[in-house]
Amino acid sequence: MERFSSPDPIRTWTRERRRAGERVALVPTMGALHEGHLSLVDLGRERADRVAASVFVNPTQFGPGEDLESYPRDLEGDLRKLADRGVDAVFTPEVDTMYPEGASTWVVETDLSARLEGEARPGHFRGVTTVVTKLLEAVGPDLLVMGQKDAQQAAVLRRMVRDLLMPVEVVTAPIVRAPDGLALSSRNAYLAPEERAQAVCLHEALQHARRRIREGDGTPAGVLEEMRGIIEARPDARVDYVAAVDPDSFQDVSDLSGRTLFLVAAFVGCTRLIDNEMVQEG
Ligand code: PAJ
Repeated sequence: MERFSSPDPIRTWTRERRRAGERVALVPTMGALHEGHLSLVDLGRERADRVAASVFVNPTQFGPGEDLESYPRDLEGDLRKLADRGVDAVFTPEVDTMYPEGASTWVVETDLSARLEGEARPGHFRGVTTVVTKLLEAVGPDLLVMGQKDAQQAAVLRRMVRDLLMPVEVVTAPIVRAPDGLALSSRNAYLAPEERAQAVCLHEALQHARRRIREGDGTPAGVLEEMRGIIEARPDARVDYVAAVDPDSFQDVSDLSGRTLFLVAAFVGCTRLIDNEMVQEG
């Protein structure tokens, strides 16, 4: 695995791969890698000839009072995991490479970013769209691999790539879960053992929604209220939002007939977790 920390050499690496007729996939990450991240590497490998990954804790997507300083970091471990999984190139830039002194240019998506995570975390998606644009510029891949775990992020980036005519295909990989159903996340490391046990309530609430839709009754408001009840029955859990949206527009659905994306954000102790589930009636 080759390692690069500045844009020009990795861009040259990609250009050479493409000149040899190979397709290159990029898997952007903030490190503290787990099987969820590594499943994106596997999908990149299936859909392309070479896989590049990036590890960069992007300061601009963290709000004031969020966990930028304490965000888990383990670069050595990450490099080992990526190499073991067959990643061909890794991009590990420093903050001042990605944000040169006085950087004043942003990429902003204004529709899908407005609600849910965008509302709960002002400025978050502006940081994500800006850094992913820079990563795409630096690496120049054919394919961008994102996780469904961050469903709204994947939708925002898909929209950005379309709107800005970026020459890259976006693919989304399914959510990887722990045996009890908790979606894997770097932030799960913050959970104390008793919180970790309760954190499964996000998945339980989503599974409840799936069952209610299968049974074919219930209104969006009713099902969301039940999901809220399942989460808040746990002593250390507090709902930030629950939503039932159209997976393309991210607007609330008015009934539960077509495809519905259920989304949950909740605090378990001080740790904010998100999860989602796509449900189709019938
Ligand atoms: P990070 O949280 O490290 O996640 C990197 C990628 O891994 C994202 O596409 C995310 O959806 C995916 N991922 C995380 N947990 C997953 C799971 N359990 N199953 C499947 N995929 C999972 O998302 C970011 O970093 C950043 O916002 C980034 C896009 C790198 C921009 O800074």
